[in-house]
Amino acid sequence: MLNPTFARKELNMAKAKKASESCATATHIVLPDDTNTLGNLMGGRLMYWMDVISAVAAHRHCNRVVVTASVNNISFNQPIKLGDFVTLEAKVSRAFGSSMEVFIEVYVEDHRTGAKTKANEAIFTFVAVDQIGNTIDVPELIPETDVEKQRYDAALRRKQLSLILAGRMKPTDATELKAIFEDLTEQ
Ligand SMILES: CC(C)(COP(=O)(O)OP(=O)(O)OC[C@H]1O[C@@H](n2cnc3c(N)ncnc32)[C@H](O)[C@@H]1OP(=O)(O)O)[C@@H](O)C(=O)NCCC(=O)NCCS
Repeated sequence: MLNPTFARKELNMAKAKKASESCATATHIVLPDDTNTLGNLMGGRLMYWMDVISAVAAHRHCNRVVVTASVNNISFNQPIKLGDFVTLEAKVSRAFGSSMEVFIEVYVEDHRTGAKTKANEAIFTFVAVDQIGNTIDVPELIPETDVEKQRYDAALRRKQLSLILAGRMKPTDATELKAIFEDLTEQ
C-alpha cells in the first residue's frame, strides 16, 4: 500500500507551474432558464459557472481532484441581461500546501450592441484531495506578470482572513494581517 506521507511529499516535489498554465475560460449565453423575473442572470447561476471554471483552473494546476473550500469576495456590479454572452476567465493566483486560490474575471458582451465590459471578479479557494478525501500537496505556483505577482503577494492575507472567518485560525496568529494593521497605525 502507498504510504500517504510519502505520496504527499512526492507530489509536493512536483515541478512548480506557471500561473498561465492554469488558465481556463468559458463562454455562456444567458438563456431564459438562467434569469430571474426581471430577465437578469441569477446570481446563483453565475456562481455555479464560477465554481466550475475555477475548479478547472485549480485542476489544471495540480492534476488532481479538487473541492471548493471557500468563496470570497463576490459582488454583482451590474445586471446581466437575457441573451448576453458571459465569458469567465479563471487562473490560479497562489498555491499553498494543499490549497489553491483562484481568481475569476467575468466579462459581458451586450447582445444588442456587442459592447464588452468587465462585470465582476471573484476569488475561490480549492483543495486537492485523493479518492477518500485526504488532502494532497500541490505544486508551487510561479507568477510572471505584474498582476499575477500582485495577486500572489496578497493571497496569503486573503487566506488568513478566510481562515479566521471560518473559525480555523486565531486572529492573533494571522501574521500577514497583523502586519497591515501595524503599518497603518504607524502612519
Ligand atoms: C476543504 C477540505 C478538504 C479541508 O479538509 P481538512 O481536513 O479541514 O483539511 P485541512 O485543515 O488540512 O485544510 C486543507 C487546506 O484547506 C485550507 N482551507 C480549509 N478551509 C479553508 C477556508 N475556509 N479558506 C481558505 N482555506 C481553507 C487549509 O488552510 C489547508 O490549506 P493548506 O494545505 O494549503 O495549508 C474539507 O473541509 C472538505 O472536504 N470540505 C468540503 C468540500 C466540498 O465538498 N466542497 C463543495 C461544497 S458542497
